[in-house]
Amino acid sequence: MPRRPAPPIAGPLLTRRTALRLAGSGLIGTSLIGSTLATPFIARAAGTAATARQAHWRSGDPFSLGVASGEPAADGFVLWTRLAPEPIGNDPAKPGGIDPRIGDIDVAYEIAADPDFRIIHRSGAVKAEAAYAHSVHLELSGLAPNRPYWYRFTSGDAVSRAGRAVTMPAPGAPLDRLKIAVACCSNYERGYFSAYRHLTDEQPDLVLFLGDYIYEKVLSPGKAMRPHSHGAIAADLHGYRDRYAQYRLDADLQRLHAELPMLITLDDHEVQNDYAGEWSETFDTPQHFLQRRAAAFQAFYEHMPVRPSRARPQGPDMRIYERFPIGDLAEITMLDGRQYRDRQACYGPPDRGGGHLESDAACPERLDPARSILGMAQERWLHDGIADAARRGTARWNLFGQDVLVAQFRQPQEAPRHDFVYSTDRWDGYPASRARFMQQLHATALRNPVVLSGDIHSFWSNDLHLEAGNTASPLVASEFVGTSITSPGPDYNTLTSWLPDNPEVKFFDSRERGYMALDITHDSLTVHFRTISDVTDPKASLSTLRSFVIENGRLGTTSV
Ligand SMILES: [Fe+2]
Repeated sequence: MPRRPAPPIAGPLLTRRTALRLAGSGLIGTSLIGSTLATPFIARAAGTAATARQAHWRSGDPFSLGVASGEPAADGFVLWTRLAPEPIGNDPAKPGGIDPRIGDIDVAYEIAADPDFRIIHRSGAVKAEAAYAHSVHLELSGLAPNRPYWYRFTSGDAVSRAGRAVTMPAPGAPLDRLKIAVACCSNYERGYFSAYRHLTDEQPDLVLFLGDYIYEKVLSPGKAMRPHSHGAIAADLHGYRDRYAQYRLDADLQRLHAELPMLITLDDHEVQNDYAGEWSETFDTPQHFLQRRAAAFQAFYEHMPVRPSRARPQGPDMRIYERFPIGDLAEITMLDGRQYRDRQACYGPPDRGGGHLESDAACPERLDPARSILGMAQERWLHDGIADAARRGTARWNLFGQDVLVAQFRQPQEAPRHDFVYSTDRWDGYPASRARFMQQLHATALRNPVVLSGDIHSFWSNDLHLEAGNTASPLVASEFVGTSITSPGPDYNTLTSWLPDNPEVKFFDSRERGYMALDITHDSLTVHFRTISDVTDPKASLSTLRSFVIENGRLGTTSV
């Protein structure tokens, strides 16, 4: 994104040697070279009342899960790492990571103006918190806008890999071009993360992740290409932590996080398939399910570059939705379509847990205007933000990143019935929420709105009209859906046969795995549907299936 030379940075100059010496001061105890235990030897800083400790690593790499940056602003970002020399436990009952009874551990950090760490702009110490699996979430501010920084962490004599982070141009500041990659649905059991590798090779300015970063479930024995750890469903804190650790040990995903900043929201599989608010698809009581959701959110937080000032979970609650302005070119609104939603319409035993198909005749509840996919508080926040963005008019493109398909997609029933059924798990399950969203975009005439969606493991290019399904009503926004990193798509021929009943869908293909690459200028937004050759091949190659462009000020897409 920065298309201008990086300005020189004023600030304290600190050499790596000095930083490491400072980080190691107060360390007492003797070296335990030769030990096979991948645990830290912990020493309290002499003469201080510090509660955090400094570690001398006996063996193993405490930074085995890498580093990450996220939520870039004009003056800073959040940096992440986690101390975990043995990140996956030996069995489901014994989690990986460091024993929490050891307490918090001090980690030193350096922020450099150059990739060789010759000019250290800032350094200090931050706690790896025992209560959060010894993860580090370092929020930095006061940095220069629109430029890259490089960072690394040190614990005792161990140094992390170097990461690259960026600051954004100030809201409204001139920006000529922005490249964004959009990914979702990466099931480790379904194949290799070649899509992540090619995405990173493109070096976009920013990555949007739209949900299903992990899958909590497991495939039947013998079906998984790369089995989930212990072959166990993740349903408690140990299980979710091990799942994230296993994914983060993947070299392609680890490199993505080290090199690219990410904005991230969740879908269902970070917690449980098709969950809705406090409702489980397996009919657990809300009281029981919210304990599971709390564990899932905690493990998510422990492994993601999200800001603790907003996203640190409070029990089963975790604030993820947020707005991210990027110069005068874009504003990105990330939504949470799972945590606050009403439960799916006409939900109930014996076989209607989670998402299912309903007709209007059988399920009038689906149409109830009191129901919401975002929850009314988030809807108000969304609508206020749209009105405010429209009034300011500073962003040329207004992007909305969220988890599930927004466009109506109806499915004809078999004869003798001739009505349609709708999924209760997507925005189709909450048509009143969708109508209010479209109405607000239309009423405020927000500039160039584009919705980006995940979940359905297929590429889509959709027109979003004021009235869903009525292409004679005003066109309000465009929607792009970016298939999946690995998860298999729905049946191509079946869904294609329903396209004549869904004129808002301009393009559909469920046969490919990959991601979306957006190239944004003041004149146009181009989206490329990138595909990998074979999800079972760790060396899969990349191609482009289709590309679409939206011209500034003109609703609707053109295939290019
Ligand atoms: Fe998915």
